[in-house]
Amino acid sequence: MVPGGIQEDDANMDAAAQRARVAGLFDQLSPGYDQNGVPWFTPIGARLVELTAPRPGDRAIDVGAGRGAATFALLEAVGRLGHVTAVDLSSAMLDLLRSAAHERGITNLDVRVGEASPEHLEAGPFDALTASLVLFFDPEPDLTFGRWLALLRPGARIGLSTFGPTDEAWTAAEAVLLRHAPPALLDARTTGRVGPFASTGSMATLFQNAGATDVTSRDDPLEVTLPDAAAWRSWTMTLGLRQLWEAVPSDQLDGVLAEVSTALEADRGDDGMLHLTQQVRYTTGSAGTLARTD
Ligand SMILES: C[S@@+](CC[C@H](N)C(=O)[O-])C[C@H]1O[C@@H](n2cnc3c(N)ncnc32)[C@H](O)[C@@H]1O
Repeated sequence: MVPGGIQEDDANMDAAAQRARVAGLFDQLSPGYDQNGVPWFTPIGARLVELTAPRPGDRAIDVGAGRGAATFALLEAVGRLGHVTAVDLSSAMLDLLRSAAHERGITNLDVRVGEASPEHLEAGPFDALTASLVLFFDPEPDLTFGRWLALLRPGARIGLSTFGPTDEAWTAAEAVLLRHAPPALLDARTTGRVGPFASTGSMATLFQNAGATDVTSRDDPLEVTLPDAAAWRSWTMTLGLRQLWEAVPSDQLDGVLAEVSTALEADRGDDGMLHLTQQVRYTTGSAGTLARTD
């Protein structure tokens, strides 16, 4: 059970309580987050920064920075003359990011716990903003995205990664877990597949409604290679998907595992490994005239 109790009816929780629960989830996930050797957050963060295209010398912000998958790529892109602010609701994720930055001798990084909005963050205006796999955890994605954009100067670059579809076998495996999802769960697999997250077109609309220009949205495939369903469970227990596993009643877990295993077999290749494909959605644009000018 994650802190905050995922069996509660989220629909009755206010936005602040829902964000506190997301912070609690990632505080809990932080020690094992991105540590099990599956190339996932790092290639997604790197591709996001590449497509966002910040320039050397930029002041950039990485929202929902976590352990730094996009932050370190941003630091590379802005170079020593640039600066990066990393913001996250989870203090435990940011403690690990701070240590990793210290080990690398990085001095042009600020790390801030909390929300990224003009009320919560004095820094800015920024020249570039990234948020890799973050916004679908927010209870008010349109409002929150608007607050992020209020931190930018006109013309600043914006890049978000979210998820497109998974392949058929992966989708079938997750469908087994989704049967147990608590109502109104904030997650890539629930809120992250509807509304603004439903398609490249709806992501482009999210950007345009917030006043962004030069908007593009695309899905790029990312393959994950694993030996079996047990490895898929171990890996997904280190992701937001852990919320779905933890919602399965303990007396039904063996049955769910068996169903997941059967579903994933459709992705077994001639090399004996499971080859799972996730489309990763990258949406980029430039801040319009609503952005900050100070
Ligand atoms: C899936 S992780 C992604 C972390 C990192 N960007 C990466 O790609 O590895 C989502 C992160 O977003 C943070 N988060 C979720 N909602 C947020 C919000 N509204 N503001 C700031 N951080 C948020 C979580 O605490 C978590 O660390």
